[in-house]
Amino acid sequence: MLAKFNNKNLLSVCFRFSTRTMSIDIGGMRKPYNDKENTFDVKDLVSKNPFDQFKVWFEEATANDKIEEANAMCLATATADGFPSARMVLLKKYGPEGFTFYTNYTSRKAEELDSNPRAALVFYWEPLKRSVRVEGQVSRVPMEESKAYFESRPVSSQIGAWVSDQSKVIPDRTVLTEKEAELTTKHQDKVEPLPFPNHWGGYRVVPRSIEFWQGQSNRIHDRLRFRVAETEEEKSNKESWVIERLAP
Ligand SMILES: Cc1cc2nc3c(=O)[nH]c(=O)nc-3n(C[C@H](O)[C@H](O)[C@H](O)COP(=O)(O)O)c2cc1C
Repeated sequence: MLAKFNNKNLLSVCFRFSTRTMSIDIGGMRKPYNDKENTFDVKDLVSKNPFDQFKVWFEEATANDKIEEANAMCLATATADGFPSARMVLLKKYGPEGFTFYTNYTSRKAEELDSNPRAALVFYWEPLKRSVRVEGQVSRVPMEESKAYFESRPVSSQIGAWVSDQSKVIPDRTVLTEKEAELTTKHQDKVEPLPFPNHWGGYRVVPRSIEFWQGQSNRIHDRLRFRVAETEEEKSNKESWVIERLAP
């Protein structure tokens, strides 16, 4: 028994021991952001409409070679009694009607959204030191729109939507690969197109606030928030969005 206890085993025991007993201090991890000359102010906004501003930042992120998926965003939802959860999803459409992503309607996020239709989204475009936060009400995308998007996807992705009973506990990977192989044989050649899965479709986050954040090396970051007009005075103004600067 002792003979089997070589250095590798010892290392792994020590590692498990240390991670269980003490935290690893990474307080020294720190990257520079933007210089003082490169700030983001109200005068830099392209419009008083946050969707125009989002378009400019999103297109700059998409054009940046160091950003592989500018449309990757963190989606936060919560149960009806307020327990939060977050995961990454891909933005598939944006504009004044909202921010759209697609998923399985029986997944954990869908259960949470159906019982508590509010969500928050966060984009972080690290090379640009920019982040966007979106908060709002959520509704399902009309079925015809989800169907049109589903049909535009590659067959392998369409199969993926049928294969996964998303968020459910499964015994092993073969549950997925066997179903995938069966569907691939039947549909890959598109002789028989895949039907649209009724358990799958889009959600749209209709923002009530959108915040644009740009990081500064000295941590005096820039935060400009657009929020829908709330008070009677705000509503009486011609602009439908109130623009505010927030402390970093
Ligand atoms: C970059 C990235 C993009 C993703 N995009 C999607 C997506 O568009 N839709 C989706 O359902 N899951 C997507 N996922 C997987 C989700 O993060 C998550 O694992 C899955 O949706 C199950 O989440 P839930 O159990 O909270 O419902 C993505 C994951 C990553 C890392």
